[in-house]
Amino acid sequence: MTGWTPDSIPDLTGRTAIVTGANSGIGRPTALELARHGARVIVAARSPEKGEATVADILRAVPGGQVEYGRLDLADLASIRRFAEGVDQVDLLINNAGIGLISRQETKDGFEMQFGTNHLGHFALTGLLLPLLLAAPGARVVTVSSDAHAWGKIDFDNLDLKRGYRRMSSYGRSKLANLLFTLELQRRAEKAGAALTSVASHPGATATNIVKIGPLQPLVGVFLQSAEAGAMPSLYAATSPDIHGGEFVGPKLKLLTPSDAARSEELARRLWDVSAELTGVRFEEIAYS
Ligand SMILES: NC(=O)c1ccc[n+]([C@@H]2O[C@H](COP(=O)([O-])OP(=O)(O)OC[C@H]3O[C@@H](n4cnc5c(N)ncnc54)[C@H](OP(=O)(O)O)[C@@H]3O)[C@@H](O)[C@H]2O)c1
Repeated sequence: MTGWTPDSIPDLTGRTAIVTGANSGIGRPTALELARHGARVIVAARSPEKGEATVADILRAVPGGQVEYGRLDLADLASIRRFAEGVDQVDLLINNAGIGLISRQETKDGFEMQFGTNHLGHFALTGLLLPLLLAAPGARVVTVSSDAHAWGKIDFDNLDLKRGYRRMSSYGRSKLANLLFTLELQRRAEKAGAALTSVASHPGATATNIVKIGPLQPLVGVFLQSAEAGAMPSLYAATSPDIHGGEFVGPKLKLLTPSDAARSEELARRLWDVSAELTGVRFEEIAYS
């Protein structure tokens, strides 16, 4: 797709966007552009300090904009529930936050941290917001995955990765789960006749905190694009009229083909069921009958 820039984003007045991890990296310009085009934006971040500072920065750039902070820790199901209870409208949900390439840790609920935050946290958040998404005309869910999904494998007998933890393959697994979730959400919405569009994005290699602490660190400032460029696939996926459910938008706004594993309906369904069991969030409005 050539010629599309954030200036192509239509007027979003009256629409509410939630951007997770909007205080940093790719999430920040994503939130800024949505606010610039009239959306009410909820900056969903775990740190009140960083979240409020981001709101103030965006409002400086978009005087008169509607930008709010919402406290959300995706590594804590209770925090996700509290956040979702405080939301009154959502038209665009950008599941952007992510943690990557860390040594093995666990979320508050005992899930392996990368899977728990990047996948289960966003799974629970989307499910809890589902009634509001279904009530919003033309709602979209954009889940930020990565080409790193191709490194991922899901072993349901070792979901907590207590055996053989490797930071890259754990990250890849979480990003594979993001894609499986995106495609399964789209299938379920379609089957239920719901006007909900679920899309994935891959920002491309971008100079953000996630890579600054990882093995790509030496490439920062040399080969890595800006956060603004990294936000383009998410912004396009969230707002372009040319997008169709289930698409995977990559750098330069090209449509990418997910790996064979990511396109497996059987794997997606199993992951969905396990995720519902682990989080207690069941997406009843679009459940298979
Ligand atoms: N950068 C790349 O090259 C690249 C490539 C492919 C995909 N991605 C994806 O792009 C997305 C954005 O990452 P980024 O590159 O912009 O990295 P980033 O600058 O590190 O931003 C990640 C954001 O996620 C937030 N976050 C982490 N754990 C959280 C939690 N438990 N609850 C709520 N928020 C949490 C971080 O909050 P704090 O500031 O509080 O830590 C931060 O705002 C991620 O999904 C990542 O996997 C990035």
